[in-house]
Amino acid sequence: MPVLVVVGTQWGDEGKGKIVDVLTEKADFVVRFQGGNNAGHTLVINQKKYILHLIPSGIFHPHTTCVIGNGVVVDPEVLIREIENLKKEGLEVSAKKLRVSERAHTIMPYHKALDLARENRASREKKGTKIGTTGRGIGPCYEDKAGRRGFRLIDLTYPEIFKEKLKTVLEEKNMLLEYLGAEKLDFQEIYEKYVYYGNYLKPYLTDVSRILWEAKRDGKKILFEGAQGTFLDIDHGTYPYVTSSNTLAGNACCGSGIGPCEIDRVLGIVKAYTTRVGEGPFPTELKDETGDYLRERGGEYGSTTGRPRRCGWLDLVLVKTAVRLNGIKGIALTKLDVLTGLDSIKVCTAYEYEGKVVDFVPSTLVEMAKLKPVYHELPGWKKDIKDARSLEDLPENTKNYLKFIQDYLEVPLYLVSTGPERENCLYLKNPFEK
Ligand code: GDP
Ligand code: IMO
Ligand code: MG
Repeated sequence: MPVLVVVGTQWGDEGKGKIVDVLTEKADFVVRFQGGNNAGHTLVINQKKYILHLIPSGIFHPHTTCVIGNGVVVDPEVLIREIENLKKEGLEVSAKKLRVSERAHTIMPYHKALDLARENRASREKKGTKIGTTGRGIGPCYEDKAGRRGFRLIDLTYPEIFKEKLKTVLEEKNMLLEYLGAEKLDFQEIYEKYVYYGNYLKPYLTDVSRILWEAKRDGKKILFEGAQGTFLDIDHGTYPYVTSSNTLAGNACCGSGIGPCEIDRVLGIVKAYTTRVGEGPFPTELKDETGDYLRERGGEYGSTTGRPRRCGWLDLVLVKTAVRLNGIKGIALTKLDVLTGLDSIKVCTAYEYEGKVVDFVPSTLVEMAKLKPVYHELPGWKKDIKDARSLEDLPENTKNYLKFIQDYLEVPLYLVSTGPERENCLYLKNPFEK
């Protein structure tokens, strides 16, 4: 079982960073394949918190090579800062340890400016078109990639060609920025900065597909780290309240250059309740003290923007849909400890839609708005479970909660996370083994 894809099954922030970090102990390569620095993956190691936005969460293991695939959109300024900060922590982030696809697209200053300008305009006009993006230029960068006017990282290492194309592209972007009421950007400043970034990153750039091909041939263990979550997927998520990439496991192939038959298993990360940042439908959202309780106990504030996350009960209809969309064959359940102390816990097992009980996620916002969750209620537990190391250490009600989830999803639990530290983990099955 050498190739494993890890994806979020909800709206992001399921604890992918922590799970990838613990699984990296067994992996030789950890690969990001989509998204950009809209992601915020948190790792807590020896009580110290690290937040990674672009560099894969395997970086803290000395034996692992970290890879940024072609499907990622890279803000070079952020990547360089992340490299430098990790180096200051005493980590090795050499061009041998970190490999970056030369084909990955570059987030440009006008992508960020356009992202913010559109969101600001939507806020001013109050027409409900605000997405609540992270403002990192993700959408505009993917637009340019699809529009064939983007810059790939390798393009920054050809200054003369870059210069000519940038002039043309910037002219159009400045017109757009002016129209949206934002400041125009200066050509020379962007040009000089980006040529510098190109020079800095040049040693890291490589053909990722080839590296992964060779790794697989040599029997290395490869771990793909999804960013965002299933319902932020541009096609299968709650459109238009989604991100601009395919977040599903299938995109691990296109976003890195490996074939679909190379993937051996997909592991879905499920938070024991649900959160969402930004706008968009959320059937099990709790706008009451239970929601506040989950936010405070779970520290549910965005790792990238610091925004309070919207919180609600676990929605198993969503998660089971994620199981289908990703081909998930194993679950890592996270943040179970956050539920400790609640008298009872609700789990959404179906929706009521126009008087009927349904168990699917509709494709339109109009239908989504009409969904009323149907809940199954389970008794809570009071005992602290952070230090549990096996199922036997858990209270009976906690075990029942896990069993209920596993039975509903018809997918086995591989890991259960009971706290932010590496040690707070129950290893039930090894996802790299058959
Ligand atoms: P990601 O984007 O999926 O990697 O998730 P984030 O890092 O954005 O958010 C997850 C948060 O929960 C981080 O602050 C983690 O340190 C924390 N976390 C992860 N697993 C657990 C857990 O099992 N229990 C608790 N209490 N916190 C956890
Ligand atoms: P990780 O990898 C949670 C959300 C934003 C917004 C929408 C579009 O940490 O789970 P974008 O900036 O991507 O155009 O914003 O997607 N979003 C995330 N929410 N976790 C993330 O990443 C997210 N990345 C984007 O809040 O609603
Ligand atoms: Mg996050």
